[in-house]
Amino acid sequence: MLRTHTCGELRMENAGQTVTLCGWVQRVREMGGLTFIDLRDRYGITQLVFNMEINPSLCEDARQLGREFVLSATGKIAERSNKNPKMETGDIEILVDRLTILNTSKIPPFTIEDNTDGGEELRMKYRYLDLRRNVNRKNLELRHRMAIETRNYLNNEKFLEIETPYMIKSTPEGARDFVVPSRMNPGQFYALPQSPQTFKQLLMVAGFDRYYQLVHCFRDEDLRADRQPEFTQIDCEMSFVTQEDILETFEGLAKQLFRSILKMEMENFPRLTYENAMRLYGSDKPDLRFGMQFVELNDVTKGKRFRVFDEAELIAGINVPGCGEYSRKQLDELTDFVKRPQVGATGLIYIRVSPEGTLRSSVDKFFTVPDLTAIISKFSAKPGDLILILAGKCHKTRSALCDLRLEMGTRLGLRKPGTFKPLWVIDFPLLEWDEETNRYYAKHHPFTAPVPGDITLVDQYLSGDQKADLEKVHANAYDLVINGVEIGGGSIRIHNKDLQKKMLTVLGFSDEDAASQFGFLMNAFEYGAPPHGGIAFGFDRWTTVFAGADSIRDFIAFPKNNAGRDVMIDSPAPIKEEQLKELNIRITI
Ligand code: AMO
Repeated sequence: MLRTHTCGELRMENAGQTVTLCGWVQRVREMGGLTFIDLRDRYGITQLVFNMEINPSLCEDARQLGREFVLSATGKIAERSNKNPKMETGDIEILVDRLTILNTSKIPPFTIEDNTDGGEELRMKYRYLDLRRNVNRKNLELRHRMAIETRNYLNNEKFLEIETPYMIKSTPEGARDFVVPSRMNPGQFYALPQSPQTFKQLLMVAGFDRYYQLVHCFRDEDLRADRQPEFTQIDCEMSFVTQEDILETFEGLAKQLFRSILKMEMENFPRLTYENAMRLYGSDKPDLRFGMQFVELNDVTKGKRFRVFDEAELIAGINVPGCGEYSRKQLDELTDFVKRPQVGATGLIYIRVSPEGTLRSSVDKFFTVPDLTAIISKFSAKPGDLILILAGKCHKTRSALCDLRLEMGTRLGLRKPGTFKPLWVIDFPLLEWDEETNRYYAKHHPFTAPVPGDITLVDQYLSGDQKADLEKVHANAYDLVINGVEIGGGSIRIHNKDLQKKMLTVLGFSDEDAASQFGFLMNAFEYGAPPHGGIAFGFDRWTTVFAGADSIRDFIAFPKNNAGRDVMIDSPAPIKEEQLKELNIRITI
């Protein structure tokens, strides 16, 4: 070893020892005849001291060092006269008598500090320097600890970690695939897996019983703060289980992570049906760190000759506590917020309950005081509260009110980073109708089993019964949500060939397409497929939520930017003409 200790571990009890440290120069300071260098490594910072009177040439050398030079320094540990209680090594310093420059450094393009002066683009280009910063190091350490705890828990529960291939076959469901051309099979492509879904099911057919994998998944979709084209799942599957067994097993994993990583003992996670989640929060991933549940108002608002309400499918609102004295300007701001295209409401109706209890609303023209009182009593509103109401088509109104609720939660500081509110959302619909393409899509994926009692609806639909409403078919599917973020999702799977074929027909697959895309799975179901089910967690998201942060990019060592580019290695990039030729690919743009 080039060093005897790290830069984070020396304390007063080491005083008098001679040690060798290696690390990077954080900064150089001169004070009279003394030169101080903060030497940094992954573990911390230790102060090196050079004394002009004792060793002038060494001190002179130290003064020439630049930021991020790599050093090896040997010397005796001494008690500091000027201790720094903010540093773990702040009681001591090293009186250096031997110094080796292991490498020089150009001046870094931004400061390697918690509050750096480097913008996002620059830091991504020099990600290896960005990763020297404490914040990023801590994020990756957290990720590492979560991976270990996850593996420990699952190993203890007899899960086997098994790798599945990264070069598979493109399928039309889900997001877009990233594809890889095959040189040996001209004109043919592999696809990178969006998840190991079918492989983990085949592992159940193979009898492995309990599988997991920390696995990269690839999805060519539009990027957001919580989405990367390449991300990691904790992917799991179990045989001979019910939905209840899966929820218990993975609530166990979640509680273990809360316990070991955040030192928090969690109560049993509440469960909310999809229907109630949509009705009360307008979202299948509600943030339960604060209340403001939706209250539906159709019964007390219709028939007052207010057209907006009379024509609306749904009139619903939230009670924002303590905001009854919002000014006109603040209310106009909220109106602008809900009218933004991303939110999509046509307007905002409010009722202010003054501290004295008087009611002032934006619909005073249409509603008498008793009318308004009937509305606010549905919210159990108190003096000083503000009622915000939206109206329109059911789905759109709920979605806009969800955005408004989250906005008010943020404005009032109710979405605190250190507070955690996990829940299971259950009883998802199996299918979703898409107006644009005029067909059903699987809400989760095509391998999810319908609730047994609802299979007759599928049969009715397939036998031509137009009235069979497939949106009423429920799935044995579930999501884990923490603080408004979908951390994971899974389902009990179909393990019967005929039922799988029926589902593919409902999803618009011809018999030939079903056979060519998923024949391997349906064939496998004919060889003794056990009942099975599973779940996958977004590992990057989970780590991000545990850290109380927003962007998963900060928890991935080498992430892509919003345009899906790695600006450090400058990828994606064109390839050489010879490579294209070898792959039988002609670029036409
Ligand atoms: P699903 O598609 O719901 O299910 O994905 C599981 C979890 O993966 C995370 N996730 C993402 N994280 C970062 N970037 C992305 N682009 C991204 N997409 C998804 C989310 C999500 O909850 N095979 C099924 C699971 C199963 O049924 O067992 C699947 O992949 O946290």
